[in-house]
Amino acid sequence: MNNICAVMKNQNHLWHPNTQMSEWNKFPKIVRGEGMWLIDEDGNRLLDGVASMWCNVWGHSKKELVNAIIKQTKKLQHAPLFNLTNEPSESLAKKLIKLSPNMTQVFFSDNGSTAMEVAIKIALQYWNNVGENKKTNIATLENGYHGDTFGAMSVGYVPEFFSKFRSKLFSTIQFPVPRTIFAGTHKKMSSKEYEEYCLSKIEDKLKKDNSIAAFVMESGAQMAGGVIIYPKTFQKKISQICKKNDVLFVLDEIATGFGRLGSMVEYQSQNSIPDIVSFGKMLTGGYQTFAATLTTKKINDSFLGKFSEFKHLFHGHTYTGNPIAAALSLKNIELYEKYHLIEKIQKTSKVFENKINDISNLDIVGEIRHKGMVMGIDLVQNKNSNKPISSKTSINKLVFDEGRKHQIYFRTLGNTIMLVPPLAISQKDLNFLIDGTICTIKSISRKL
Ligand SMILES: Cc1ncc(COP(=O)(O)O)c(C=O)c1O
Repeated sequence: MNNICAVMKNQNHLWHPNTQMSEWNKFPKIVRGEGMWLIDEDGNRLLDGVASMWCNVWGHSKKELVNAIIKQTKKLQHAPLFNLTNEPSESLAKKLIKLSPNMTQVFFSDNGSTAMEVAIKIALQYWNNVGENKKTNIATLENGYHGDTFGAMSVGYVPEFFSKFRSKLFSTIQFPVPRTIFAGTHKKMSSKEYEEYCLSKIEDKLKKDNSIAAFVMESGAQMAGGVIIYPKTFQKKISQICKKNDVLFVLDEIATGFGRLGSMVEYQSQNSIPDIVSFGKMLTGGYQTFAATLTTKKINDSFLGKFSEFKHLFHGHTYTGNPIAAALSLKNIELYEKYHLIEKIQKTSKVFENKINDISNLDIVGEIRHKGMVMGIDLVQNKNSNKPISSKTSINKLVFDEGRKHQIYFRTLGNTIMLVPPLAISQKDLNFLIDGTICTIKSISRKL
């Protein structure tokens, strides 16, 4: 009752995402961003430990990106791709094709969820276009996340996020994902045996079931599922199984492409070529909402024909190909090249490796998973059982409040602290982030 009163007294009309509003009397009001820092109305500085939901590349207020927005805004703010085209969208499509092996076509949309909706629709319509009307099912990995719209929720079912909507989600065929902690509990298998078990389940099903249109998975790692990094050849083997069994391989690089895991195009470093792939988040450097879904020539060709055949893609958004977002993305990609960002990430990422022991020695820390510019740290009651810590408020609120005292902006996923800094963070700032995380975990531990 008190909590509800607090919200009413505060007259908070703004609904915050995935947030129990009664837990919050007030949110820090961010008025400025400077480099890696977010600055609130009282002048307090917070290091952006989650890259403003995993999308910020260069830090805030990067001059070249701000200027790109201004320059394009002065010329053309928006004109649709319905019957028209514009230079930034055309150039960006060309650039993305150049970066992405085997891809020939680009569809722009508004955010990661819509990019995945488009990917699913392209995959389903492809089979319809080529006359294989029985191929209508989608295979996925358990614990995946592809966004919060209904199609994206259906292919990425995470029970904690989506159970309220289950009755309206379409059904998918789900396969287990190799995780170290599952291997031990599953017939006491080693990690390698468990990976082979997961792959054999996929292979057996795809061989037998010719109703499967596509296999959809995150590329390189499951991010929202808690930074679950795939074993080295797992993704490659799935791509091979798909190819062998005539199933389209659809990758989601929205959170993991563009450098997050240490490579520009993650599927390239995984040696796995998709039929369809989506990019988002970092595409604009994290300054505007925008996303892209790319496909191969084979897929695109199936959409061509006479108008009366109705083979064209039945999808469109008002802001598809927005010229400001496209011009911004072009500038962002130019900066990746100019500043050798991918090489820089690979070097800076060593700071994480150097600090892993210091973090894992903390008494409420369970498993830690890390690759490139992301680390997931599980907060547990007991290192042996891996049971999440319990807290009166949500764990996110507990970590956020303690983190603020150490000048860090955190947003956890369940009991996992996500360290997902802007990609261009310096070694000094990354050390600040990790040291602040250690101090935050220690103070939480004292409070429990
Ligand atoms: C892998 C992945 N796909 C899709 C999405 C959805 O993106 P958006 O929040 O921009 O809709 C996310 C968001 O976190 C994501 O991590």
